[in-house]
Amino acid sequence: MVKKEEMVVTPWEVRGKIDYEKLIEQFGIKPINKELLERIKKQTGELHYLLRRKIFFAHRDLDWLLDQYEKGNEFYLYTGRGPSGETHLGHLIPWVFTKWLQDKFNVELYFQITDDEKFLFKDNLSLNDTKTFAKSNILDIIALGFNPKKTHIFLNTEYSKTLYKEALRVSKHLTFSTVKAVFGFTNENNVGEIFFTSMQTVPAFLESVRKEKNVPCLIPLAVDQDSHFRITRDILPKLGYYKPAIIHSKFMPGLKGVGKMSSSDLSDTILTTDTEETVGWKISNAFTGQQPTKELQRKLGGNPDICSICQYYKFFFEPDDKKLDDIFRAEKEGTILAHEHKQDLTEKVNKFLKEHQKKREIAKGRIEEFMLRD
Ligand code: TYM
Repeated sequence: MVKKEEMVVTPWEVRGKIDYEKLIEQFGIKPINKELLERIKKQTGELHYLLRRKIFFAHRDLDWLLDQYEKGNEFYLYTGRGPSGETHLGHLIPWVFTKWLQDKFNVELYFQITDDEKFLFKDNLSLNDTKTFAKSNILDIIALGFNPKKTHIFLNTEYSKTLYKEALRVSKHLTFSTVKAVFGFTNENNVGEIFFTSMQTVPAFLESVRKEKNVPCLIPLAVDQDSHFRITRDILPKLGYYKPAIIHSKFMPGLKGVGKMSSSDLSDTILTTDTEETVGWKISNAFTGQQPTKELQRKLGGNPDICSICQYYKFFFEPDDKKLDDIFRAEKEGTILAHEHKQDLTEKVNKFLKEHQKKREIAKGRIEEFMLRD
C-alpha cells in the first residue's frame, strides 16, 4: 500500500495533500463563517469572489478588527513577498485581495520585501540575487494597481535603519526554544534564520510606531505564513501594541494538481514574466484528471475538484460565479475535453499576462512613488 504523503505547511515548505480543516485545528485559527461574511459585506457592499468561494477561509481576530472599525478606529494592511524568484500566479492571490481591501476601506498598506530572508534560507542565492528579484517582484505589485499615496513598499536590507531597531525590540522577547518549537529549527540553522521572524514582525506594528499611537493591523496572506504571526501575536502586547488580525488564503494549486503552486518546479507554475509560448507549453502538460480516452470522458465525465484547469478558473481566471459553475459542470458531465479546456485557459492566461506585462513596463518608471525610505 502506498503511504499517503504527510501534510507539511511551514513558511519554507508546503507539501502533501492540504487538509484545511486540519490546519484550522492545528494552527488554532477560526473558519470565516456566514456572520463574519455578512459583517464584511456591510462595510464593503459586496463580497470579493475569493471570499464567496471560501478561498480566504480562516482568520484570527477579524471580528475584533471589524469591531474597532465600526467604532471609528481605522486599521492598516500589511503583506509581503520573499524575493526568491519571479512572481508566480499563486502569489497574486493575497495581493489581489489586499488591493480590494485597500480600495474598499481606503487604508494604508505596508508591503515588506524580505530579501534578507531569501538570502538566509536559500543556499544558492546571494544578496545581490534577492535584490534583483525584489526589483522585479515590485513591478508586479505596482502593476496590480495599488494606491501609490497609501502603499509603502520596502526591502528589509534597504529600510534597515528603521526596521532593525524595532526588530531588536521584538527579538529581546523571543527565545531560541520558541523558534525551534514553532518552525522546527535545529542547532544547525544559521543564526540569521533564527533572528529573521523578528524582521517579519515589525510591519505588524510599524504604522503604530510611525503614527505614535496604536493602529490595528490586518495581514492578508496564504496560510503557510501564519506561524510567523503566532509569534508576533504573543510578543506585540508585551511591547504595548495590538495583536495583528490575520486573514488566511488557501493555496492556488500548481498545474500538476496537488498541493501549492511552487517556484521550485517551474513546469508546475506560471510566472508573470512567462512568454505566450511558455504558457501554452505549461498548460498543455497540465493535470486535468480526465478519463484516459475521449469516449470515456464523454461517458463518465471528470472531477473539477482535482482538475488544475478548473482550479485556475476558480482561483483567478473566472470571477463570475455563474460562468464558473458552467465550466465545472462541463468538466463533470464530460462535455469539454482536456485539449479544449486547456486551449481556453491558455487564451485567458495569455490575455491577462499581456496586459500585466504592459503594466510592469509602465511600473518601471513609477517605483519611487511607492518606496518607503529612511
Ligand atoms: P512568499 O514570497 O513565499 O509569498 C508571497 C505571498 O503569497 C502567498 N502564496 C500563495 N498564495 C496562494 N497560492 C499560492 N500557491 C501561494 N504561494 C505563496 C504567501 O502566503 C504570501 O502571502 N516571508 C514571506 C514574505 C512576507 C509576508 C509578510 C507574506 C513578509 N511579510 C506578511 C505575507 C504577510 C514570503 O516569503 O512570502
